Amino acid sequence: MGSEESRYDPELERIEIELLLEGIFRNYGFDFRSYAYASIRRRLWKRIEAEGLGTVSALQAKILHEPPMMEKLLLDLSINVTAMFRDPSFYRAFREHVVPILRTYPFIRLWHAGCATGEEVFSMAVLLQEEGLYDRCRIYATDINEVVLQKAKEGIFPLDRMQEYTENYIAAGGKRAFSDYYLAKYGGALFSPSLTKNVVFSLHNLVTDRSFAEFNVILCRNVLIYFDKTLQARVHGLFYGSLAKFGVLVLGSKETLRFSPYEECYEQINGPEKIFRKAR
Ligand SMILES: C[S@@+](CC[C@H](N)C(=O)[O-])C[C@H]1O[C@@H](n2cnc3c(N)ncnc32)[C@H](O)[C@@H]1O
Repeated sequence: MGSEESRYDPELERIEIELLLEGIFRNYGFDFRSYAYASIRRRLWKRIEAEGLGTVSALQAKILHEPPMMEKLLLDLSINVTAMFRDPSFYRAFREHVVPILRTYPFIRLWHAGCATGEEVFSMAVLLQEEGLYDRCRIYATDINEVVLQKAKEGIFPLDRMQEYTENYIAAGGKRAFSDYYLAKYGGALFSPSLTKNVVFSLHNLVTDRSFAEFNVILCRNVLIYFDKTLQARVHGLFYGSLAKFGVLVLGSKETLRFSPYEECYEQINGPEKIFRKAR
């Protein structure tokens, strides 16, 4: 009987996972039903083991009856890994190919969708300041997760990553000393408030929320990789509808527009980087 009970049944597990995701959506409004299955499964099991539980159904009971458990799971599912000047070659290409386009605009709206703890937003703010464009920009930085947004607003990043970020900054074509932008304070690196004076941080769920403005640049890096094809296509619809004419769309290095219904609507701006311009 004992071995019967513990036999792994992938079909049953799939049913449990689908029921849990449905429950999360109906009770909390977070829609993970179309996220890539293997990745969701791995992260659910991480939480099941951390809580000393044995099945997805046992986690479901806790999630539905204990909201703090949902907060923990949200952190597990939303994968907030990020870095300043992550993929420096992207920032270099942005300086070279997108900044000249932006210079021709009197006012620029950028949207960082899935900004996590904000490192990407601060990096872009540094770049825009150095290019003399920051003062005509309004930057919207959104994420599904309130905890990470709160950190982003504080603008304090781990001191022990500053060496790595300095190297990224230099490789990204940075024009000053990176240490000009932060002070060692509060046990971390506190970044200059001048970098966020034109930034609005807010909650936004790419799966369930609508567009909220028209943008010249949308950056959504390392987010769509967690969505299945159908959901990716839906979010591409949201981006297409939110971009101004000739607006720029930036994806992460492992992400693509290929096979999306919007592939034909964009032209790639620069070879290896995932920078696209709305063409029609
Ligand atoms: C891996 S981080 C990427 C951070 C940053 N863009 C970068 O490339 O370094 C993915 C972020 O997407 C957010 N995310 C996941 N699903 C989302 C959704 N449905 N709507 C908005 N943000 C979402 C997560 O909370 C997480 O902060």
